[in-house]
Amino acid sequence: MEDSSLNFLRKTFELLNDGGVFDTKEQCDAEKSLVDFRHPHELKQLILFSLTDNIDTQHDDDEIEKLCRDVIKFSVKTNNRNCHNQLFGGLDFYGLAGEWMTSALNTGAYTFEMAPAFTLIEEAVIQKSLQLFGLDDGDGILCPGGSSAIMYGINLARYAKFPSSKLEGNPQGLVMFTSEDAHYSMIKGASFLGIGMQNLIAIKTNEFGQMNVDDLDMKINDAIKRNLKPFLVNATCGTTVLGAFDDLNKIADVCKKYNLWLHVDACLGGSAILSRKRRHLLSGSDRANSISWNPHKTMGVPLQCSIFMVYRKGILHECNSSSANYLFQQDKFYETAYDTGDKSLSCGRKVDAFKFWLMFKKHGERGFEKLIDNAFDMSLYFVDQIKNRDGFEVIFQPQYTNICFFYIPKFMQKKQERDEKFWECISKLAVYVKERMMKNGNLMIGYSPLSSKNLGNFFRMVVTCQPPATRESMDFVLEQIEKIAEDFEFYDK
Ligand SMILES: Cc1ncc(COP(=O)(O)O)c(C=O)c1O
Repeated sequence: MEDSSLNFLRKTFELLNDGGVFDTKEQCDAEKSLVDFRHPHELKQLILFSLTDNIDTQHDDDEIEKLCRDVIKFSVKTNNRNCHNQLFGGLDFYGLAGEWMTSALNTGAYTFEMAPAFTLIEEAVIQKSLQLFGLDDGDGILCPGGSSAIMYGINLARYAKFPSSKLEGNPQGLVMFTSEDAHYSMIKGASFLGIGMQNLIAIKTNEFGQMNVDDLDMKINDAIKRNLKPFLVNATCGTTVLGAFDDLNKIADVCKKYNLWLHVDACLGGSAILSRKRRHLLSGSDRANSISWNPHKTMGVPLQCSIFMVYRKGILHECNSSSANYLFQQDKFYETAYDTGDKSLSCGRKVDAFKFWLMFKKHGERGFEKLIDNAFDMSLYFVDQIKNRDGFEVIFQPQYTNICFFYIPKFMQKKQERDEKFWECISKLAVYVKERMMKNGNLMIGYSPLSSKNLGNFFRMVVTCQPPATRESMDFVLEQIEKIAEDFEFYDK
């Protein structure tokens, strides 16, 4: 007799498939194909979430199946071609296969004895990444997300400049610098690592969202004059909203002048390194001290896959080790340098390298390049279409595959004066369109204000590698916005 849990496991593919998780593009435009949105109070009526019912209750497999079908039904199908809401989208099926195998093998990436093949796979992924970004003699580690990879960078930068901080804690007066458009994980990192949020100094950005390097130089100088202790500059390659790329070479010059650690947050834009046409965006990455890159964003590696790289071997271990002797005994029978766990901040660490490695084996660098170039080309196609359609306006010519734009509804297109009320209406339209998209359930794109540019809400649409975008899928977005906006009425409240 077969174990029922194994039977259930076999069924999971069918459940996902029936739920439309792997739907092909023909089905993707139908209403509710991407999301069947319910408010929390409604969803609570549809699925029994609570675990505080009778302590003797156990559900049989039919009930478990029903629960799974419902969870799938009310989840966002990120693999739908109209899911442009986040910096990640659909996923690569080889990557998914890798993710499933990783989970089934259920091991931790800390000692070679527990993860022999995975340890060598992680090493191969790190070596390849270091080579791509020009840090050939460096080291790295996979982290549970880009925010933690950035915090690894801050931690190493502090240790490199103030090695005694590992034992004694932070010296007084630490300050670090990042652009005003950088990801909020820098702010969280400042707080988490005891540096203090007010000691993260924001640098102005230019009209395209890139760091103003003169402002950086001036603010570092000013901090030194105030007897503060600058130790790190974070440059961003692919900012979260605008997709802007800071000029790494110019920033590296400033870091050299003041002897500061340069961390490059390439969590979003790092994937451009795989395209011969676009890798110039990351020119100067070889001058970074550390880099964070999230192949789970643009490239469709299943969440999460975040790579932290550092220019020098040994420093990760020196900075993070605590030499727990129940795991990292030095008298083991194999080469203990392969026990990567003491370089990491977490103990149990999910193996996130395998799925990416498997994708690499399948697609090769040239296959990735094609997918990345397609994402860029389709975002440029989208911008071209915008320029040819009444009412749409691009805010910034995209540097990456994020497209930021407004839509001016028909009844306002003839308005001459763009006063406060006009912009209030445009801002409210974004909220309205978003709500209607979600309720129709066949399209998701984001919206955002941007205080650094004094902008109210605008649309941020993100094109990723999976599923590969097409001209039709791009046209669909524009048509839907136009259609929904027809019903928008602006009341002066
Ligand atoms: C530019 C940038 N850096 C870092 C991160 C943080 O990555 P994660 O979401 O994996 O923590 C993000 C997330 O969107 C990002 O856009």
